[in-house]
Amino acid sequence: MNVIPNSQILGARVEGLDLSQTLDDATFRAVLQALGRHGILCFPNQTLAAAQQRDFCARLGFIQYPVTGKFQDKQVQEVGILSNIVENGVPIGLADAGQDWHTDMSYTQVKGFANALFAMRVPRREGRVLGGTMFCNMFAAYDDLPTEVKDRLKDAKAVHDFQKFWDAMLAKGSARGDLTPAQKASRPPALHPITPVHPIVGRRSLYCNPGYAMHIEGWAKAESDEMLEFLFQHQLQPKYQWTHQWTEGDFLLWDNLGTVHQALADYSAEEPRLMKRCQIMADKVFDPAWQQQWLRAA
Ligand SMILES: [Fe+2]
Repeated sequence: MNVIPNSQILGARVEGLDLSQTLDDATFRAVLQALGRHGILCFPNQTLAAAQQRDFCARLGFIQYPVTGKFQDKQVQEVGILSNIVENGVPIGLADAGQDWHTDMSYTQVKGFANALFAMRVPRREGRVLGGTMFCNMFAAYDDLPTEVKDRLKDAKAVHDFQKFWDAMLAKGSARGDLTPAQKASRPPALHPITPVHPIVGRRSLYCNPGYAMHIEGWAKAESDEMLEFLFQHQLQPKYQWTHQWTEGDFLLWDNLGTVHQALADYSAEEPRLMKRCQIMADKVFDPAWQQQWLRAA
């Protein structure tokens, strides 16, 4: 296993691993440390069946299923399909997933830890790769906050609501349709610290994103709105950004606790894109026994 940092604010390439095989314990620990340190890991040239993607991801935490129950791999329900491809008039995947800044699963009681996307088809136009995924470094964003703001946010929590992002996508013309009352009820708002200590890195990050964060618990609305607007502007500055340009066979694993991201909607319906996704919850990574086994051991 060879970890090659991007020499940028985020990201590393991990060569020499075949993720279709079960990683030995030492390698799995090294992957976890690299994930915390670099935020985004690209494992190039992978060949993965859906079940192999699921098995790799399940070691990191519980895998959340898609809310609509649609667009899952036919055999492996933990693996969702992101695609603009239409076969016989029927979309095969969610076409506009993540096309604005957000953090995956900040809206659940147990928040999201990591996401894994396996690139099967990547759109290109005149040789240029399209449909990149942009990330921002939330350790750097936290570090740069004024001391006075860090003090005010030290114990603050924000309410995150799944419906905020869904509604924003509908307002932009998404064909994803309204959530049913049952789907809404299945994703009630969740409360999370705004500057939590990262379980792998042991440093605080800025955990608050424009996609889902609604308000700061216990703050007056005007005060909360002002602070959130400041944080959203602050965290998305170009100096924190890095974009992954996809290649078929890339397996991208990113840490939601230390980054925010968005998918670039710069390709058309005629330029096919196909990704397989697992959304991994932060149940294991905050569990002391799991931490002892995978984060503390030599
Ligand atoms: Fe996302």
